[in-house]
This record gives sequence, C-alpha cells and structure tokens, in this order.
Amino acid sequence: MESPFTHVHDTPPPGVGADWTIPQNWDAFTADEHAMWDRLFARQSDMLPGRAADAFMRGIDVLRLEKPGIPDYRELNARLIDATGWRVVAVPGLVPDDVFFDHLANRRFPAGNFIRTPDQLDYLQEPDVFHDVFGHVPMLADPVFADYMVAYGKGGLRSLQFDALKQLARLYWYTVEFGLIREADGLRIYGAGIVSSFAESVFALDSDSPNRIGFDLARVMRTDYRIDDFQQNYFVVDSLDQLLGTTVNTDFAPLYAANDALPPIAIADLLPGDAIVTRGTQDYALAKSG
Ligand code: PHE
Ligand code: CO
Repeated sequence: MESPFTHVHDTPPPGVGADWTIPQNWDAFTADEHAMWDRLFARQSDMLPGRAADAFMRGIDVLRLEKPGIPDYRELNARLIDATGWRVVAVPGLVPDDVFFDHLANRRFPAGNFIRTPDQLDYLQEPDVFHDVFGHVPMLADPVFADYMVAYGKGGLRSLQFDALKQLARLYWYTVEFGLIREADGLRIYGAGIVSSFAESVFALDSDSPNRIGFDLARVMRTDYRIDDFQQNYFVVDSLDQLLGTTVNTDFAPLYAANDALPPIAIADLLPGDAIVTRGTQDYALAKSG
C-alpha cells in the first residue's frame, strides 16, 4: 500500500470540489463491485475475531457493516455521526496533505470512491473503498480513537509550518495504518493497513519475522517504513488512551526539532532503549531481498 501522504494532483480535477470531495453516487456501483466488497468482507470477517482489537470489532457491529454491498454513506454516516460525530466523504483517490489534515481535523474521513478489481485482491497502490471504509471506519466509531484522529488532523495542519510531514507520516503509518494493541488476551490489530489485508492480518500477529516494539512516540517518528511489503516493525500500544494521551499531551514542535538533529532509524533496527515485545528474525524480509 502506498503512503497516505503521496498525492498525484495539486488541484482538484474537473468536477471535484475544492475540498476534493465528490458525491459517493452509491447507485452507480455495479453488482460486480458490490460482490467484490462482499468477497473481501467475508474473507476478513472470518479471520478477524480473536485478531482485531475489541474497538474494531465493536465498530463493525455498531456500524452494521455486515450488511452486504459497499456501504451507502447515507446510512453509514447516520450511525457513525451518532457514535462519534465522524462521517465518511468520498474522494477520487489520494488528496493533498493539507486537504487530508483539514478533513480529519473536522471529523471527516476521505475514502477512495472505487473498489479494487479481481487481479488486485491482495495488493493495490492507492487505497480503495474497502481499505478506507472497512479498514479505517470501524475504529472511528470508538470515542478515544475518534479523538486521536481529530488531534492528528489538527497536529498535521500545525506541522505544515515546521516542515515535519515525514515525522508525522511515520506516526500515522505505525499507528493508524499498522498499529498493534496489547489486550487482556494478547496482541491485537487496530491498524487499517493490517485489518484490511488478509495476509498481513496473519503475519502481523503470528510471524516470527517482524519486530514488535512497545510504542515510543519520538522513536516512532524517526523510524523509516516500507510501503511495498509486510512491515518489518510493528509498534504496540497498551491502550488507545495511552495513544491519545501521549500524543495530545506532547508538544511536537520541540520533538520535531530534536528528531531533525538525529538520523532516521533504519527499518528493522532495534535500539538499546526499545521495549521489545518480540524480537524478529527478519527471515521473511531477508528471503525476499536475498
Ligand atoms: N500534540 C501534537 C502537536 O503538538 C498534535 C498531535 C496530537 C499530533 C495527536 C498527532 C496526534 O503538534
Ligand atoms: Co489507510
């Protein structure tokens, strides 16, 4: 999956609003497109109980996402607004950073208004409606995570004056997209990039290959990541309250400056201060590069 912060256009294409939104035009989805959603949904929902975070499973329930077909935002948003004040808006694809942050800061989640084709079942470059809605929206029904995403959007708008996009993108990557959480019965997935991927939902929890490291804000903001294959590191939060609390209560301005003076941390490196949950063999990544 491609970085959430790589965009292709600078101005909206013809017919696209200044905020990059478009009508969902739900009635225009074909039977094949709805069937693709159903196929992806069935595959993930068979596998995710016992793997996905409690908050994610609750979100699926609260939002009635088990209803067949690509969700109609008129119905989905009624439930989501009720839960946390968030809503989903349709966009053609990736949007510019400032537009993205502004949507989040105002409790709007932009979702790609297309669905992958059968030859893209397991990998695609730009997030589609399955990744964006199935992956991201259940967590947005959780009040604590919902507040984290708003704070992230506001922090993103603020970061533009510090030229700190890269550090902030790493935080998004290792939490919103690929985060793990420690629950009473063990590690669980809450990151959208994992829960929307069949293979990575297994790999992230079961494989001996990746490192799993206790969440440390400054460390995460220095850590490189890969966009072309399974992650080599996952960062584990103890709770969503921890995630929200540490990010909201830290002024990022001095942190950006301090991190800027340090080199980035290479993808699979472990550091002396790391709270290692599992030390990875990196066998998977080594075999691929080898
Ligand atoms: N506290 C951050 C700042 O000072 C804002 C932020 C909050 C960023 C939560 C990400 C997540 O900029
Ligand atoms: Co995403």
